[in-house]
Parts: sequence; structure tokens; C-alpha cells
Amino acid sequence: MRFPIYRARRLREHDVLRQMVQETRLAPQDFIYPLFVTPGRGVREEISSMPGNYHLSVDLVEEEVREVADLGIPAVLLFGLPEGKDAVGSEAYSPSGVIQQASQVIKKAAPSLMVVTDVCLCEYTDHGHCGVIEGDRIVNDLTLDLLCRTALSHVEAGADMVAPSDMMDGRVGAIRETLDAKGHVNVPIMAYAAKYASSFYGPFREAADSTPQFGDRRSYQMNPANAREALREVRLDIEEGADIVMVKPALAYLDVICQVRQMTDLPVAAYNVSGEFAMIKAAARMGWLDEMPAMLEALIGIKRAGADIILTYSAKEVIPHL
Ligand code: PBG
Repeated sequence: MRFPIYRARRLREHDVLRQMVQETRLAPQDFIYPLFVTPGRGVREEISSMPGNYHLSVDLVEEEVREVADLGIPAVLLFGLPEGKDAVGSEAYSPSGVIQQASQVIKKAAPSLMVVTDVCLCEYTDHGHCGVIEGDRIVNDLTLDLLCRTALSHVEAGADMVAPSDMMDGRVGAIRETLDAKGHVNVPIMAYAAKYASSFYGPFREAADSTPQFGDRRSYQMNPANAREALREVRLDIEEGADIVMVKPALAYLDVICQVRQMTDLPVAAYNVSGEFAMIKAAARMGWLDEMPAMLEALIGIKRAGADIILTYSAKEVIPHL
């Protein structure tokens, strides 16, 4: 095999051959596109740290999802900015909440588009934590009931899949039981299984107005230093009934994606988070990176690592370049 008998460059000489031997490809079907839904009417405001992504009121979501569906993107992930917040995140599970309204509207406007809802309390609580608090502690078991109510109300409004992102213990099993008891046995759960306490969520917290008002999320989200623990979290979520397991963020955790891919035969999702998106946008604006090739390289790296599904804010803009 050694040079000069074997020349690795032979397979790179011609464009056609380079494409034939390409091992990984991106397609529109790989993506889930996140949307931020706000109350009111006529709102379409760009999120400053996430160029090309908007706060949209329910009436304008309609137009947006038709565009998303026309691009061939199979699913959207909904985040809600509620009218009001309180200690127990009541609007997360209100039948007239923004996500519940948006789910209904989207199913009418673009019936083929899958509606996935993020199930968490942090956008809806006045303290900004993903669970109920007692003093300065986030209480696990009391939170489960509220997450179950949230997931059920999303499904009753028309959501096709729920994605719990809170990192409370036992929430996947609890949500599965709740959905099954109400006859929603075929609604899948995409679990944020290995979700790290990451600095790369910065722009999202501005977008979703979900910054914790005290402390941080390290008592429930994972330590970035741990990979074995990620496998344990994934295993637990699978035992509790997860249908798709997610690793989040993606780019600094490609090893975790790769290991999760090897340990399970379930579909693996990876979340290319707000900070990862914003870094490329910002560097491109400074003239330091060529934006589109850099976006595509990041995404193909995530897929090559083992992700079947990529949640990304760049879904719409990269599709014409695939
Ligand atoms: C809610 C949630 C977060 C993200 C997705 N769901 C924020 C957080 O945990 O602080 C982050 C998404 C992103 O940064 O793109 N818990």
C-alpha cells in the first residue's frame, strides 16, 4: 500500500470521484429548525445574537413554517416566550399558552411538518430555572408533575413529538406514562439525554429570556468534563422510554455523539446550539471566516460523528448550498 504504489490523492483528483467517495452527506431531512414564538400579533423581530432567526408571533409563524416545509425541512422545534412568568411556570402548561396556540396553527398551515416542542420550565418561571425551587434548590420530583402537564398540553394542542430539555431525573419515564395514560402511545419522546451546563447557550438565553435569576444550572445539567456520565444519562433515558436521544451542545461534544452512536441503535440527535451558530456568524462578520463553508463543515462534522438528526439555527440558510 505504500507510496508510490498507493497514492491517496488519486481519489481526490477529480470532482466527480471526490463526490463518489464522499462518506457523509447532509440533506434537508437531517434538520430540525428551532422557532421562538412570542405573544401578540405582527411580531417579527430578529434576535440580535442569532442573525436570520426571529421572535415570531403566532400569526406570523404560519408564513414561516410554510417556507420551512417548502425547503424540505421535516420538523420545527418550538420555544415559547410567555405573556407572563411565575414561580411554577404556569404558562408552560396553559391550554392557551403560546406553544399550544402555535402547535395548532402550524398543523393547519403545514400539515406535513412535524411539530416538536421543547418541554422545560425555564422560559416560563420568574426565577429562570428549569424546575420548581425551594429556597435556592431546584426540586426534582415536584417538577416532574409540571413537566408532564406541559408535555400533555403540547400534545393535546397538536404537537407530534415532545423534547424534554430540563434534565430532571425521571422525567422521560414520567412523561411517557402521562402520555400513554391519555392514549398518546404513538407520540415519541426526543430526550435531551446528555445535556451539558454549557457557555454556548448564551445567545439562546437572550432569545428565550431564560437566564437564571440566581445561581446556574450545574445542579441539573452535566459537567462538560464528563463523557461516561453522558452514557449513563442516555442509558437511563432509553430505559425510561426515550425514542430519540440527544447530545447537546454538539461541536465541543463530538466524542460524546460518537460514543452514544455506538452504544445504542436508537436515532441520535445533536443540538448545534445558539453559541456555536453565533460564533461562526460573528467571525464571518469580522471577515475572519467564510461563513457558508464554515457552517457546512460544522454540520457535516456533527453528522460524521454519528448524529442522525441535527437541530440547527442554520437549517434554512444552508439548504440551498447542500
Ligand atoms: C431550555 C433550553 C435551553 C436550550 C434549549 N432548551 C437553554 C438552557 O438550558 O439554558 C439551549 C439552546 C441553544 O443554546 O441553542 N432548558
